[in-house]
Amino acid sequence: MKVKFTFLVSVVAFFTLFLVSCTQDNADTIVKSYTPEELSVISNSLDLPSGTFEYKNPELPAHFTSGGFLGSSVTNHGATLGRVLFYDTRLSANETKSCASCHNQNTGFADARALSEGFEGGDTKRNTLALGNVRFYYQDRGFFWDERASSVEEQVRQTVSNHIEMGMDLDLLPNKFEGIDYYEILFEKAYGTKLITTDRITNALSQFVRSVISSNSTFDQAMIADNKTWDVEGDLSKYTAQENLGKQLYFANCSSCHGNIVFLGRSSANNGLDLEYTDNGIGDLTGQASKNGLFKVPFLRNIEVTGPYMHDGRFETLEEVIDHYSNGIQAHENLAPQLKTPEGTPMKMNFSEEEKAALIAFLYTLTDESLSSDEKYADPFK
Ligand code: HEC
Ligand code: HEC
Repeated sequence: MKVKFTFLVSVVAFFTLFLVSCTQDNADTIVKSYTPEELSVISNSLDLPSGTFEYKNPELPAHFTSGGFLGSSVTNHGATLGRVLFYDTRLSANETKSCASCHNQNTGFADARALSEGFEGGDTKRNTLALGNVRFYYQDRGFFWDERASSVEEQVRQTVSNHIEMGMDLDLLPNKFEGIDYYEILFEKAYGTKLITTDRITNALSQFVRSVISSNSTFDQAMIADNKTWDVEGDLSKYTAQENLGKQLYFANCSSCHGNIVFLGRSSANNGLDLEYTDNGIGDLTGQASKNGLFKVPFLRNIEVTGPYMHDGRFETLEEVIDHYSNGIQAHENLAPQLKTPEGTPMKMNFSEEEKAALIAFLYTLTDESLSSDEKYADPFK
């Protein structure tokens, strides 16, 4: 009898759970799609799809998913709201700058200027970092050139309130969006109520930043064609001989820091730009002399279009970057071991002209043309 009772309880429990999960699923899809009235309000100002784009679980090649995909921090409606906010100049104090003013979709979400122009015309302290693949690159590292922000949310708070970049008092931020009919709808879809808070704004922006994924470069297509998962050794059959030479040189000289293209290698390093730095990066932040001249190792996807290069945008071209590594590395006291000879002097990679051209040809294969045209990252304002 006792056994039977337990059995019955389990069966009832199972079906209850089953029913609850079904209704939850339904609630999700029904509540979250736009009504025709909502769609007409939205479409007065914004060019959004009647459903949503897939931000949460985009289709990705095997060489991405094999590293583990952090999809849980993004919802489709959250990223949709983030996309609208990303392009909204109301985010800056005098309503002149949006995130996209500095992070331009056409240039890998970087800026074509060495230093970007802030809301009152002042120069940013450093070169604008390209955005993309944050969900893969940043599982355990900080944001900004000196890695001072531990999450995208924290990065967004610092950027919005930065006195040069956007100059906005975070407490006053919700006021800017209250009463705007399409935002009321978008906040409700993303968070269940119309309430607009600074946390929701920064979270939605972060969701959009985490959604920007570049996975369709020539490199990715070549990896797919050869059925490669995470392993990047050996030649790629879709590459030219020159690109394969460049790939070989990259993995011999650069990947210890810049990683295997899908995932980053080191988090920060000194790459010997100067003997003494005016901006000491992580050293300035922490006050530790052993960290002077250390900067975050940037990712190299879309590097062809994200120049100028380095934290201060000192190099206009990739040729100058390769010349630096070839014979320009300075004997900075914190120079990374990867860039030193066994005797401790700065390495001279001494690339031939052929090798320089090959390295650059390889770096060009990291450009993802579809990123700049993908509507799900584009300016939604009409
Ligand atoms: C005035 C130009 C400007 C504006 C506006 C701007 N950014 Fe940036 N962004 C930068 C610069 C410059 C850096 C690098 C700053 C540093 O490292 O000190 C940066 C860095 C970042 C990073 C760090 C990337 C990494 O790999 O560490 C993220 C993420 C980012 N911005 C997102 C945003 C978002 C979201 C907005 C809108 C809320 C925004 N930015 C607005 C110029 C700008
Ligand atoms: C010791 C680690 C290390 C090695 C090895 C290394 N780099 Fe770097 N690289 C860095 C760091 C750190 C930066 C940023 C430095 C700064 O701005 O002060 C950087 C910056 C760059 C940039 C500029 C990126 C941007 O968005 O502005 C390019 C391009 C680059 N490296 C290419 C290469 C190539 C090509 C090689 C191999 C020939 C290489 N790196 C080897 C650490 C390294």
